[in-house]
Amino acid sequence: MFSKYKKQASKPKAAPAPAAAAPSPAAAAPTQSASTSLRRPIARLAAEVGSQDKERKRKERMNEIKVQLHRELLDNLNLAALENATEKELRNEISAIATEILEEKSIVLNREDRQQLNKELYDEVKGLGPLEALLQDETVSDILVNGPHQIFIERDGKLQLSNIAFKDEKHLMRIIDKIVSAVGRRVDESNPYVDARLQDGSRFNAMVPPVAVDGSLVSIRKFKKDKLAIDDLVEFGAFTEEMAAYLQAAVSTRLNVIVSGGTGSGKTTTLNALSSFIDNAERILTIEDTAELQLQQTHVGRMESRPPNVEGKGEVSPRDCLKNALRMRPDRIIVGETRGEEVIDMLQAMNTGHDGSMTTIHANSARDGISRLENMIAMAGIEMPIKAVRSQISSAVNVIVQASRLQDGSRRMTSITEITGMEGDVISMQEIFRFQRVGLTPDNKIIGHFTATGVRSHYSERFRLWGYDLPPSIYEPTVMEG
Ligand SMILES: Nc1ncnc2c1ncn2[C@@H]1O[C@H](COP(=O)(O)OP(=O)(O)OP(=O)(O)O)[C@@H](O)[C@H]1O
Ligand SMILES: [Mg+2]
Repeated sequence: MFSKYKKQASKPKAAPAPAAAAPSPAAAAPTQSASTSLRRPIARLAAEVGSQDKERKRKERMNEIKVQLHRELLDNLNLAALENATEKELRNEISAIATEILEEKSIVLNREDRQQLNKELYDEVKGLGPLEALLQDETVSDILVNGPHQIFIERDGKLQLSNIAFKDEKHLMRIIDKIVSAVGRRVDESNPYVDARLQDGSRFNAMVPPVAVDGSLVSIRKFKKDKLAIDDLVEFGAFTEEMAAYLQAAVSTRLNVIVSGGTGSGKTTTLNALSSFIDNAERILTIEDTAELQLQQTHVGRMESRPPNVEGKGEVSPRDCLKNALRMRPDRIIVGETRGEEVIDMLQAMNTGHDGSMTTIHANSARDGISRLENMIAMAGIEMPIKAVRSQISSAVNVIVQASRLQDGSRRMTSITEITGMEGDVISMQEIFRFQRVGLTPDNKIIGHFTATGVRSHYSERFRLWGYDLPPSIYEPTVMEG
């Protein structure tokens, strides 16, 4: 029936590894012996155990059938011939093969399940296979693949093991290849890792064996169509209304702001939200490795740096973009992340007329952020006395906003710190707001509150002159009862 696309000789099939057999970190139950009673049992990340309702059972059954059919489809389809098939042809073909296999196995599905199955099989052949459903699921924000049988997802700030898996490493590699070849890149033993942007804007990184020891590692930061805005972040408790008012004053009066934080702490989200305070009349240029920012202003020029191609040519570094941006008459420059030699041009831009510029850095505190900047300058091969370096930093950077992903998965702005100048060789800073942790609930949720430190902003007068006269009360520490 499907001679055109069917492989002629069918190979003996390897014993299937059902998705459900994926190694589960939840398998190791916490144990505690009397001799170690001072220690708390080790909390293991558990795979999500959802409700055992009908719908779930149905999904599980579908999943099993799907895994089985995927395998047979991939073994039966002549993938090379499929390249030229039209969508309709392919859908018909998949439906025909599925019908045949289902009949052979005496599996009866209702119409809706059949349609769903055909859609998923199509995704497999034309889309990104098991990843497709996760990419389309709006509630999933991160997808982390550790080899073919383990896919973790992040939902509502919590990492959980999904019940989705690839057939085997070959299957996973096929999907990785599909993604990277679509953007003209290659990944193999000699180029074992790659960054790319998916069609829907999601950020993609893959590392393949043998560097990745137990099978390919894939991380995807899903593109969120509706980025969290300032109001959302206040509502979620990422920071307070007072902090938002302060940040509005800082951004609107063109202070240079750095968002510092660890991986996945919400730096890009914060930067994006802060950018909403920029006046619509300003010309903004953004520079990113993977375009993630979604500025709401009218006058925005977006740039994306580019790694070298397969022959090692054609690289356009963030620094190249930044240097060029300075010739493009920007009012503000926003660099998605400063991590290398572009730091020099970034600081210079901040110091020379492009005030109001913003960027993010990987650091765990404001002080640590300053050290990171110093290190980046040293690594860029600039030989300058440390005092000169610090003086450059202290006059370029005005405010450091610290974003953190706390242990309960919540993301908060744990500190807002101002740089006030130099005292001798040391950069002086003052913290204006901070998140004060006070404890942990029994189910490991962080208890704490935001508070001002009692220190009035170094830029109060500037804020006032620019029409952002913040009431002195916002600098008063929050007193918690009890
Ligand atoms: N306050 C928040 N509340 C809930 N979710 C948040 C919050 N801040 C960020 N997120 C979500 O967390 C994820 C990571 O955020 P983001 O991309 O901003 O982090 P990042 O620090 O820039 O990460 P990376 O280091 O990988 O660049 C995103 O899915 C984002 O939507
Ligand atoms: Mg980011």
